[in-house]
Amino acid sequence: MIRPRRLRRTAAIRGLVREHRPHVEQLVQPIFVAERAEDAVAITSMPGIARHTVEGAVAEARELFALGIKSVMLFGIPASKDAEGSSNYDPQGVVQQTIRGIKAALPEMAVMADLCNCEYTDHGHCGPLNERGEVDNERTIELLIRTAITYADAGVDVVAPSDMMDGRVEAIRHALDARGHTGTAILVHGAKYASAFYGPFREAAGSTPQTGDRRGYQMDPPNVREALREIALDIEEGADAVMIKPGLPYLDIVRAARDAFDVPIAVYNVSGEYAMLKAAIANGWLDGDRAVDETLVAFVRAGADIVVTYFAKEWAARHG
Ligand code: PBG
Repeated sequence: MIRPRRLRRTAAIRGLVREHRPHVEQLVQPIFVAERAEDAVAITSMPGIARHTVEGAVAEARELFALGIKSVMLFGIPASKDAEGSSNYDPQGVVQQTIRGIKAALPEMAVMADLCNCEYTDHGHCGPLNERGEVDNERTIELLIRTAITYADAGVDVVAPSDMMDGRVEAIRHALDARGHTGTAILVHGAKYASAFYGPFREAAGSTPQTGDRRGYQMDPPNVREALREIALDIEEGADAVMIKPGLPYLDIVRAARDAFDVPIAVYNVSGEYAMLKAAIANGWLDGDRAVDETLVAFVRAGADIVVTYFAKEWAARHG
């Protein structure tokens, strides 16, 4: 009789036939950095995650590196916001300072920076609005380029545009190359959906749109073919790697992208996914270690090469 249970009988045998295992080198820890010290506090909806000062972010990066996490993704919370998000392209801005700080302390750490305007605009949209109240695609790209150059000048390894404007990858690539930053990679948010699961992040980053929502630029959750089209365009435009976001509710998109394209695929296990699990774990409704392990292996099984997750540090502390 054929008995598949033979290969599940002992831990050693299960280990031999295990098909996927996340590796600490695949994990990226997001880090929030606040320009004002008074903003550097815990995030209530994301237990275990805090907003750091620049010095705090460098200290956090050191801890991560010691645990084997060699990549971080930075998100800035500036002291001032305006309609154009001009604090984003300030060479002395909070993200630029943090990039320099981490690269000086840990030259081997891969430093990635989210590239978007929503944390820097007073209206909370990802770029300046036109007279119809829509985000202006071309003006937004101009701002992203300015910011990307300041990040690259500061020594960032990877920029991660998360705005979903059309044509931004080509424009950013061109601008970086023209400035001599040919080695700065673009990890594009290729398929970023207009999701309810960003709620805790917007609390953390203070980036909730003051009017309307992001459905005019982020993708409609029911669409798969559109995601593949977006990703194909991003690759054509020069993206080095492509991210799907959110993660758990979109594992089918990760798999479809993995099967369709040869570039590295990243997935972003977003704030709401983290908050849901943490809330259930805090209530004693889930076994935390097992639930987190099962979550991270799901991304790898779906075909992701890179997993951006708020769980990276705790996972590495247990397994790294
Ligand atoms: C936008 C951005 C968002 C996230 C990352 N980059 C939020 C949004 O589009 O509203 C969400 C990440 C998360 O929820 O963890 N710059």
